[in-house]
Amino acid sequence: MEKTSIHGMWSSRLMFILAAAGSAVGLGNIWRFPYLTSDNGGGAFVLVYLACIVLVGLPILIAEVLIGRHGRMSPINTLRKISREEGSSRGWVAIGWMGIVAGVLILSFYSVVAGWTLHYAWLYLKHLFGGAGITDPAATFSALLSNPLELTFWHALFMLLTTVVVALGVEQGLERAVRFLMPALLLLLLLLVGYGLTTGHFGEALAFLFKPDFSRITGGVFLSAMGQAFFTLSLGMATMMTYGAYLPREGISIPRTVAAVALTDTSIALLAGMAIFPIVITFGLDPAGGGPGLIFASLPLAFEAMAFGTVYGLLFFGLLAIAAWTSSISLLEPGTAFLSEKFGIKNRKGAALLLAGLSWAVGLLSVLSLNLWSG
Ligand code: ALA
Repeated sequence: MEKTSIHGMWSSRLMFILAAAGSAVGLGNIWRFPYLTSDNGGGAFVLVYLACIVLVGLPILIAEVLIGRHGRMSPINTLRKISREEGSSRGWVAIGWMGIVAGVLILSFYSVVAGWTLHYAWLYLKHLFGGAGITDPAATFSALLSNPLELTFWHALFMLLTTVVVALGVEQGLERAVRFLMPALLLLLLLLVGYGLTTGHFGEALAFLFKPDFSRITGGVFLSAMGQAFFTLSLGMATMMTYGAYLPREGISIPRTVAAVALTDTSIALLAGMAIFPIVITFGLDPAGGGPGLIFASLPLAFEAMAFGTVYGLLFFGLLAIAAWTSSISLLEPGTAFLSEKFGIKNRKGAALLLAGLSWAVGLLSVLSLNLWSG
């Protein structure tokens, strides 16, 4: 059994937890979870989602990290190695391939949505220096979606940021990026929940989130909740298996370690819900059927009404972009690790650039699906 990975190792258990939580916490928690909750009947969706996290997500998370730590390579080569050791079918290698392909495909649209958050951070930065505020968030959002050049620019910028960290490698790149930024985002979310408490609609929001209407649990809701559990814990995208490969062995219990990751991830999603729905209700928006624009249509209304709202807006969208960054890094890492195992570890930079370029190009389809090719 290998003790270390050729790609580098996390310096401690805490660093693994931070990196894995950095991978898990991202747009999935703050953009996707609230809008899926809005579109799938509130409490009913949340209940099924929580059950999926505990009953399906957590065991798979443990399995992925365990397999990764055993193999110490990219998922494709880890599964090749284990199936050889065990004398079992080479077909298992397909799991590694599917994960890596899924990661690159997810990154392609993830980077587009992360680009939206960069654009919003930029709008608030300009507002801070005298530019116009976001007074009509619905109009601002649809203006962005209808502009393919603007979307492509932010998508490219975000992909570039992702590539730089992955090209630098695990120790230099990933660890530095996650150490301080996660706690800062948590603090800001708590602040927004605090704001929700002052609106007088907090109880209503809690009821929407946590009072399930069992008649709303359909096959479709179940599938969305299960999909969200996989998405948010970064499962089935080769990520956790790869991060597991860099986890030291001595004295580290995988179930306990990954339980901390899942708990952090789930708490942040629930906090995001508790931050967003009081605002949605207070400003007269419909909590149901918000769609992918939910946070972009609702939060700017609160920032406009709050004291120092522009600063909060800048911090919120800036930190959200950073949370997305620590996730996108983890989506690019598995494929990069595989290519550098195949073509030499010295070619890591080229591997990261190649995959990111491919994912960026596929992402252009997402960009165009919002405007020129929307039909
Ligand atoms: N797990 C990542 C997220 O939730 C992909 O954003």
